[in-house]
Amino acid sequence: MKHTTEVMITAEEIDQKLDILAEQINAHYADSDRLLMVGLLKGSVVFMADLCRRIKGHVEIDFMSVSSYGNEMTSSRDVKILKDVQSEIQGRDVLIVEDLIDSGNTLNKVREILMIREPKSLALCTLLDKPERREVDVPVDFIGFTIPDEFIVGYGIDYAEQYRNLPYIAKVVPLED
Ligand code: PRP
Ligand code: MN
Ligand code: MG
Repeated sequence: MKHTTEVMITAEEIDQKLDILAEQINAHYADSDRLLMVGLLKGSVVFMADLCRRIKGHVEIDFMSVSSYGNEMTSSRDVKILKDVQSEIQGRDVLIVEDLIDSGNTLNKVREILMIREPKSLALCTLLDKPERREVDVPVDFIGFTIPDEFIVGYGIDYAEQYRNLPYIAKVVPLED
């Protein structure tokens, strides 16, 4: 598809939002020891890198990679683990770090998978939330920006694997050819 990109959220705006999110997260986990931040590959990598550097105390990071695919029988979406976390989850405060919640399917399944391992607590942080697109309800504890249903890229988020390296969030605008 021929397209162009248009800045939607600048690097400065992201930076300011991360300070606010980190303040909330630091306050929430003030009494926690060994907080484990779990990012979902690949989209969360940039956000995780910037967010974890603002978190105080003993913090560990780990990553999971899951793939979501349609299930024709139930018309729901299944999520398969491609790479699991290496960390022990049981008894720990776990914070899932995501770049974007769209339908909610990915986070809903990842939440289920991690809950079975009996963390002390499990919370969710997303930089971007598109509530209009939600198919399954997921409780989100920390939200950066609530955005309309636009096709976006940048700051970790891709369009056919491109644009993850943009330091800002951009809108993809289709062009006539
Ligand atoms: C994107 C995004 C979220 C997920 C949100 O990841 O990074 O992880 O989709 O969609 P959902 O709420 O409808 O499940 P994607 O599957 O494109 O993988 P990527 O992070 O490697 O780009
Ligand atoms: Mn993703
Ligand atoms: Mg993607």
